[in-house]
Amino acid sequence: MGAACEREADMSRIIAYCYDSFMRGPEQACLIDWRRNLLSQVSGRVLEIGAGTGASLPLYPKGADLELVLTEPDIDMMRLLEKAVAELPDSHITLLDCPAESIDSEDSSFDWVFVSLVCCTVHDLPGTLAEIWRVLKPGGRLLFLEHVAAEKGTRRRRWQDRLNFIWRRIAGNCHLNRETEAQIRSAGFEIESITRESMRKAMPLARPTIRGVARKPLAPSEP
Ligand SMILES: C[S@@+](CC[C@H](N)C(=O)[O-])C[C@H]1O[C@@H](n2cnc3c(N)ncnc32)[C@H](O)[C@@H]1O
Repeated sequence: MGAACEREADMSRIIAYCYDSFMRGPEQACLIDWRRNLLSQVSGRVLEIGAGTGASLPLYPKGADLELVLTEPDIDMMRLLEKAVAELPDSHITLLDCPAESIDSEDSSFDWVFVSLVCCTVHDLPGTLAEIWRVLKPGGRLLFLEHVAAEKGTRRRRWQDRLNFIWRRIAGNCHLNRETEAQIRSAGFEIESITRESMRKAMPLARPTIRGVARKPLAPSEP
C-alpha cells in the first residue's frame, strides 16, 4: 500500500470510530426523530444505502414484516455496522459491501430505499440515483434525509462553495453544496413530500437539510 493510500485508510478509520461521537448532538436534537418518522412508513423489502454505524437500525418499526438489506462499502464502518446488527434481537438483516453506484441487487426488487446523509458523500450522485431507480419496484419509494446546499446567493452558500474542497478531504468525501433535491427530480422521481429544516447542533455549513418521500412512478419513463 502506498503512503497516500495508507493515509486515506487511517483517515477513514478515524472517521468511522469518531462518527457517532461527532454526530451525537444533531442525533439527539433532531435526527433520531426525523429518522423514526420517515421509517415508520416502511414495509416489505427495504434497502438502506450507506448505513454507516447503524444509527437508523433501532428506529425501524418493530413487528413490521420487514426484509432489511443494508449496504456499507467502508470496511471500518462495516465492522461497526456488523456489531450493531449483532446486538439486535431476532434480526433478519442482509449486509452488502457494494457501493451505491453499483448495488448488488436485482432490478425492481425493493419496495423502499432509505438514504440518510449519504447523497452528500457518494462519488457519483446521478449514478447512485439511477441505481436506486433500477432496484426499486415501479411505485416504490425513496426516503431521503440529507444535508444539502443552502440557497444560491446566500452567505452560507458562498461559504459552502468556498470550503467544500477542503471539507471533502477531511470528512470522507462529504460535499457541503450538493443540490440533492434537484438531482432526485432529474433522476425521474416524483417528490411526494419534502421538509426543509435546519439540522440543530450540526456545524453551521451542514445545517440545511431536506427530508421526505420520492416515488418511482408506476409506468416509469427512463430517467
Ligand atoms: C455521513 S455517513 C452516514 C451514515 C448513515 N447513513 C447515517 O445516517 O448515520 C455516510 C455513509 O455513506 C457511506 N458511503 C460513502 N460512499 C458511499 C458509496 N459510494 N456508496 C454507499 N455508501 C457510501 C460511508 O461509508 C458512510 O457510512
